[in-house]
Amino acid sequence: MKAAMAAEVAEFPAKYGRVPHLAVILVGDNPASVSYVTGKAKASAEVGIRNTTIRREASITEEELLALIAELNADDEVDGILVQLPLPAHIREERVIAAIDVRKDVDGFHPANVAALWQKQPCTLPCTPKGIIRMLERAGVDIAGREAVVIGRSNIVGLPVSKLLLDRNATVTVAHSRTKNLAEVTRRAEILVVAIGRPKFVTADMVSDGAVVIDVGVNRDPETGKLCGDVDYAAIEPKASVITPVPGGVGPMTIACLMENTIECFLRGRE
Ligand code: GUN
Repeated sequence: MKAAMAAEVAEFPAKYGRVPHLAVILVGDNPASVSYVTGKAKASAEVGIRNTTIRREASITEEELLALIAELNADDEVDGILVQLPLPAHIREERVIAAIDVRKDVDGFHPANVAALWQKQPCTLPCTPKGIIRMLERAGVDIAGREAVVIGRSNIVGLPVSKLLLDRNATVTVAHSRTKNLAEVTRRAEILVVAIGRPKFVTADMVSDGAVVIDVGVNRDPETGKLCGDVDYAAIEPKASVITPVPGGVGPMTIACLMENTIECFLRGRE
């Protein structure tokens, strides 16, 4: 996927005079966010996209951050703007997201993009949900008519991936940390998407034989300190028909979709 995008981007200077430009804003030094932003810069380099990562202290005010976004909105040489989440508690995330020019919203988090998704209108799809559907398609999983269970209801993953599965005619149950008898619910899943953010939250007894398991979690294993997902991989891998590892599964696909969204924003109005 990255090689194909790199080949496409290589033709842009001759066709359009320059390559796409992604601006990434990182506020503070949360280690997970630093690592995500580094991954985005690396992928940009591989695809040939120009990446400007702008770091600001955690003490930045909301007004200062909004002013920075306004500058990037006005810059004709910036095609995509991404503000790494979460932001410090004193900054209202929803104000920041809404301030990004919707045409540069490579994350698909702007309220106009969210509304368009739920109204089945053309929009920029959020990267992780888009990547999950891409992985299911690549693995040859038929989505139509299947029982899907999504654990998690965040704006970033749970809600939009549920909508994308629904649009592909899965029957979708959205569960969460307070769902009663969660194991009974998840055992019905032919496709199980887990985005709850707790290491080994999903145990082998919660998964039916042959299920497709998509692990969106990125956690530290409290025993080993290593990166791990929300799913007990070693216990579930033998019974799942498809399972995504952490690291290495959904994360890289999310970043590939971000590159794709950046190219889409660049091309909009040019083709
Ligand atoms: N934090 C965790 N996932 C994401 C993402 O997809 N985009 C942004 N901007 N922040 C995140």
